[in-house]
Amino acid sequence: MDADLCRIMVENKPFNSLADLQSPMKQIVILRIGHRPERDKRITTHVGLTARALGAEGMLLASEDKKLVSNIEDVVQRWGGDFYVKNDVNWKHEIKKWKDDGGKVCHLSMYGINLPDAVDDIKRCDKLMIVVGAEKVPAGMYELADWNIAVGNQPHSEVAAVALTMDRIAENDPLKKEFEGAELTIVPMERGKRVV
Ligand SMILES: C[S@@+](CC[C@H](N)C(=O)[O-])C[C@H]1O[C@@H](n2cnc3c(N)ncnc32)[C@H](O)[C@@H]1O
Repeated sequence: MDADLCRIMVENKPFNSLADLQSPMKQIVILRIGHRPERDKRITTHVGLTARALGAEGMLLASEDKKLVSNIEDVVQRWGGDFYVKNDVNWKHEIKKWKDDGGKVCHLSMYGINLPDAVDDIKRCDKLMIVVGAEKVPAGMYELADWNIAVGNQPHSEVAAVALTMDRIAENDPLKKEFEGAELTIVPMERGKRVV
């Protein structure tokens, strides 16, 4: 880093990297409800991997699917960071615990308030649970959520809904996130592939 930059002080403390100047990351966890192991294994894996890539700390899976958990853990092992998947949770219990700890809950559904109309409000939350369904979501979910949010009021995919939401509510660019302890890191380049 530029030596002059290193001498800049932030609140009378020296900083070591440009990341120190950015706002702290929000704490985001994904709650996946209605997952059917045979039918949804691919899309739920993609929900988890997308959430991880964009900076979520983990995914709570309200179904029993140890194979899915180990597939995602395998990615974390190779590509770094400390994303976790908690298998077979009780979703109502997890929501209660999250709220008791001061968190808010954002349920993504095409029937909700359109994201652009709520994004400023959600951005103020530092501890956010994002809930996505698979099969029909129980009516009680709409009552427990602090926000029922549509990523556009048209049907599409939970992967797209998670990605767009995490991108729109982020303080810092989620695509710039770095993953510590990676065995594999891609060196970006215009053509070809380089992994170190
Ligand atoms: C493929 S949809 C199936 C929804 C189910 N048929 C129902 O009526 O509840 C699965 C999940 O994708 C997410 N989803 C799909 N379209 C969405 C949208 N436009 N906005 C927000 N979330 C959406 C929701 O979380 C939903 O539970």
